[in-house]
Amino acid sequence: MEITGNTRISAIIADPIHHVKTPQGINARLLANHVDGVLVPVHVSADELPAVVNGFRAMKNLQGFIVTVPHKSAILALCDEVEEDAQRIGAVNVVRRDENGRLRGYMLDGEGFVAGLKGANIPLANQTAYLAGAGGAANAIAFALAKNGVKQLTIANRTAEKAEDLIDRVSKAYPKCQYQLGSRDPSGHNLVVNATSLGLRTEDALPLDTEPLTPDQTVAEIIMQPAETALLAAAKSKGCQVHPGLPMLQNQLALMTKILAFIEEE
Ligand code: ATR
Repeated sequence: MEITGNTRISAIIADPIHHVKTPQGINARLLANHVDGVLVPVHVSADELPAVVNGFRAMKNLQGFIVTVPHKSAILALCDEVEEDAQRIGAVNVVRRDENGRLRGYMLDGEGFVAGLKGANIPLANQTAYLAGAGGAANAIAFALAKNGVKQLTIANRTAEKAEDLIDRVSKAYPKCQYQLGSRDPSGHNLVVNATSLGLRTEDALPLDTEPLTPDQTVAEIIMQPAETALLAAAKSKGCQVHPGLPMLQNQLALMTKILAFIEEE
C-alpha cells in the first residue's frame, strides 16, 4: 500500500528494537482490512521516553503507539488516562492518541489471553483457576481471569511474596472471586495456566507439578515458542485439554489493530 499524507501512522517503541515482529503482524492486518495505515518501529531509550512521548502528542496523524520492553511501566506516568486495570497492574502496552493529543493507556496482555481461551471455547465464568507466576504477564492474566468471572483463583510463584502482593491487589479490584496462595500442585482447578517464563528454553524445569493433572483439567500456556512446551506435552499425556501460547499474541494483535486503526477485523 502506498503511504500518503492521509495514512494513519502508529509506532511501536522498544529498546532494543531489532527483534520486534509486531509491525509485520499489524501491517498485514491493516492491509487485509484495506486500512490506509502503517505501524513503524521506533527505537527509544528509557531516558528519552518523555521527550519522544511529548513529540507523539504533537504528531497529528499519529493514531497511537505500542509499548514494549523496557517502557511498559514508565509510560503510565506519561499518559493522560490509564484504564483502571492497567493502573492496578502497573503496566501499559498500547496507547491511543486522540485528536487533541491526549494519550490513553491500555494493557492488553490479559484481554488477549482471555480472548484466546474464549476462541477455543474454554469457559471462565464460575470456574476455578490455577495460575503459575506473578510477573508482568501473570499480573495481567490474574486481573483478566477475575474480571471474566472465575470464582476461585490460586496463584503460585517461586517468590511467594510476589504472589501474595498480586492476590492483595486483584482481590481488592475483584472481591467476588476467592483467592489462595498456591503450591506447585494444581489439583482441583478446572483451568491451569503457566504465566512464568519457564518453558522458553528446553532445559527449563516445569513451572508446576504435572503428576496430579487429570483429564478434566485444561492446561494453558503463554509461551509461544516452542509451540508445545514440556508442560503442554506432559498435560497432553495426562489426557488434559491444552491451549498453546500463540492465540494470546494473535488476539492482542487484533485488539491493538482495533485500538490503533479504529477497525473491527473482517
Ligand atoms: P514476564 O513479563 O514475561 O511475565 P517477569 O515479569 O520477569 O516476566 O516474570 C517472570 C515469571 O517467571 C515470574 O513469576 C518468575 O518468578 P519470580 O517472581 O520468583 O522471579 C518466573 N520465573 C522465571 N524464572 C523462573 C525459575 N527458574 N523458576 C521459577 N519461576 C521462574
